[in-house]
Amino acid sequence: MQVFVRGNNTNESADRTSTTFRFVVYRVLQDHRWLLPATFASGLILLIGPYGRSSRMLTLAASVTMGISAYIWGYATRALKRLHPRWPKLHHFKRTEYEKVWDALSLCHSQASEAATGFTDEASLVTTGGKCVENLIELLSITSKDEILEIGCGVGRVGSILALRCRSWTGADISSNMLKHATARLTGLCNIKLVHLSGAGLAEIKDKSFNVVYSTNVFAHLDELDRWRYIEEGYRVLRPGGRIYVDNVDLEGDAGWSVFLSDYVRSKREEHPPYIPRPSTASELTTYLARAGFLAIGSHWIPPLVIAIGTKPLGERSPRGEQAKPT
Ligand SMILES: C[S@@+](CC[C@H](N)C(=O)[O-])C[C@H]1O[C@@H](n2cnc3c(N)ncnc32)[C@H](O)[C@@H]1O
Repeated sequence: MQVFVRGNNTNESADRTSTTFRFVVYRVLQDHRWLLPATFASGLILLIGPYGRSSRMLTLAASVTMGISAYIWGYATRALKRLHPRWPKLHHFKRTEYEKVWDALSLCHSQASEAATGFTDEASLVTTGGKCVENLIELLSITSKDEILEIGCGVGRVGSILALRCRSWTGADISSNMLKHATARLTGLCNIKLVHLSGAGLAEIKDKSFNVVYSTNVFAHLDELDRWRYIEEGYRVLRPGGRIYVDNVDLEGDAGWSVFLSDYVRSKREEHPPYIPRPSTASELTTYLARAGFLAIGSHWIPPLVIAIGTKPLGERSPRGEQAKPT
């Protein structure tokens, strides 16, 4: 297993440290509500200790103050909890600041697992990952000879199962925190590799190095231009005859529409977080595949998802997407 870690500049690391710090403080205060009253209490006891014996009134005043501060603290944490129940406030990040956003969502293993998959328990990761592997095997006819790349692998929910069914599995992700948790989860598998992406795109991956490229539960969080970028890049890193699979929440289906609507309702109550899902239509995904040069393009629906697949032609061929590039 191999992890490429990219260096950060000072501003990026200061931003990340500040977000991390705020979130860690928030979590500690949430988890240990006795902290502040205890701090006030000990401070007050220290303060009034020398006078305690001589003035009952002072002791009484200290007790009242302690009671009030404890009440204020309890109120403040309830208010905080209502504002952002589990996640750090990330509204100051742009949608395209993927690394900062997803690093802030993956500070500890359970948080990373929930952000990446919606679950924290290993049994659910195995069940849902297994279903995704069945879809991939069926739609892309995966065999034990395939060398496979996942774009946006998270904690390796799918890779931990798929690696047992192919020659090699590589998980690429923009978040170094996610990759740390994936590394821990995938210990023991010898045919896997993890790649830290230095930005949106597959700059770290060589041309024609995989038979299969897939991305699941990632496109919803990307800007549309980056969806296209990953499909174009997927074409580049696939060998001739290689297969691609991408999915997103289906804007046109009832289940996908419910997901969209519930996020819309939520966004009216709160500011939009930068990772809020944005669905696709089958025609958006298949258009990117066709423009990149893929053949045998198909759409499949597993509500709430729409899945698009394609095959890189065997012969060299100019990608149709080049028509759209400026000359
Ligand atoms: C919802 S999780 C899905 C994880 C995994 N595919 C799964 O289904 O279990 C989205 C993942 O995409 C990664 N990600 C977000 N933006 C990315 C980008 N521009 N390039 C690569 N990975 C990205 C995040 O770090 C996160 O691990």
